[in-house]
Amino acid sequence: MAPRAGRALDLAAGGGRHTALMRERGLSVVAVDRDTAALRERFASDPGVEIVARDLEDGTPWSLGGDFVAIVVANYLYRPFFPALAAALAPGGALLYETFMAGNERFGKPSNPDFLLRPNELLDAFRPALTVIAFEQGIVSEPRPAALQRLAAVKGPPPGLPD
Ligand SMILES: C[S@@+](CC[C@H](N)C(=O)[O-])C[C@H]1O[C@@H](n2cnc3c(N)ncnc32)[C@H](O)[C@@H]1O
Repeated sequence: MAPRAGRALDLAAGGGRHTALMRERGLSVVAVDRDTAALRERFASDPGVEIVARDLEDGTPWSLGGDFVAIVVANYLYRPFFPALAAALAPGGALLYETFMAGNERFGKPSNPDFLLRPNELLDAFRPALTVIAFEQGIVSEPRPAALQRLAAVKGPPPGLPD
């Protein structure tokens, strides 16, 4: 389901591990984080990466544009952005979201309930706007024990099927 051309968004990109993966697949990437030092060091010479330094939680309205063919959010949770993420996808675009859920406090941080998804939360948040391709939740053991949710969803019909 992952597209091979177009503009992608890596939200709260950190060191840019997903930015790098999407660049390898031929996508241009907008990489956003409040701390962009690692991104600037890693992608300074890559014209296919637009680095945006921004505090995503400062109340500024969504200004990252739309028509993203892919959006990746990993290990970051800011619920007020859920609607903007769905809206920012191009038709057929894919959202890949993975972060910690309730139960993770048994394993370490994050343990603050504000940063932990409730059971089914990603599914319930995005199912009205997007078509869910895959969803899982529970305990993983690799790369270390954690409680996670993972969602893969597209805007529009499932890939390969007519509208
Ligand atoms: C656990 S790291 C995940 C990085 C990356 N997504 C990954 O999985 O490798 C969380 C990232 O969210 C960023 N972050 C946390 N709060 C933020 C905020 N309010 N605005 C922008 N970025 C934020 C941090 O700077 C950090 O890079």
